[in-house]
Amino acid sequence: MAARHNEFIFRLEDEEVALIRDFEGMYRQCEDPHGQSRVLENLSYHLVTVTLDRAVAMLSHEGRLAIADLGCGLGYFTRHLKQRYPEALVYGLDISSVALERAARRAPDCTFRRVDLKTAGLCIDGGRRFDLAVALDCLYYFEDHEIHGVLANIRALLAPGGFLMVGYHLPEDMRFGLYLRSLADAERLLIPHALDIVYSFEVHNRLDRTYSGAPVGRHLYFLARDPS
Ligand SMILES: C[S@@+](CC[C@H](N)C(=O)[O-])C[C@H]1O[C@@H](n2cnc3c(N)ncnc32)[C@H](O)[C@@H]1O
Repeated sequence: MAARHNEFIFRLEDEEVALIRDFEGMYRQCEDPHGQSRVLENLSYHLVTVTLDRAVAMLSHEGRLAIADLGCGLGYFTRHLKQRYPEALVYGLDISSVALERAARRAPDCTFRRVDLKTAGLCIDGGRRFDLAVALDCLYYFEDHEIHGVLANIRALLAPGGFLMVGYHLPEDMRFGLYLRSLADAERLLIPHALDIVYSFEVHNRLDRTYSGAPVGRHLYFLARDPS
């Protein structure tokens, strides 16, 4: 049976998918959509964490490291980032104010802002740039005609030499966000935004459903970098 949170996100109409994207309603009605409280039990997130460690070690920045968790939801991974890099300034960005309220209680030492990643010319706190941005299980909520605007926004949030980690979950019956199914797709999406893909990996998960409740399937991860 489909998880209830999906009712707020998409609807099937004659085999066609209509995106609803009522994230505010979803967070009002669902305590723990997508099993977010257990994301860190998912083996893929451990792989993401060690990859981020390497990226952070390669950053040569002056002053405080700034990190953004894009589509941070309930803030579990945001809190994890702060615990992992305690000296860093860690932001969580999401479209849902309900999610952000709960995230702020969970991670009071992080900064949370309500943003719509689709907003043209998105600007955070008067132009803050981030050395590292992560977008985990978030980018498939955009339509094909929206994704380049979203990527332009994310690109503009990156500091020179900054990294972007994209995580993408593709269960077998995935019906939307299908523009990112391979490394070649990622290159088509990111290279026009002057981002180099410096590391990628693909996980075929047939293990985690019983362990963490996370849906099984393919998971794609891309670490991209501003080459300047
Ligand atoms: C599946 S949750 C992922 C949460 C978290 N990143 C994780 O991995 O557990 C996707 C999140 O993206 C957020 N989101 C969707 N569309 C957005 C938009 N246009 N701007 C900002 N956030 C958005 C949703 O509110 C939701 O919290």
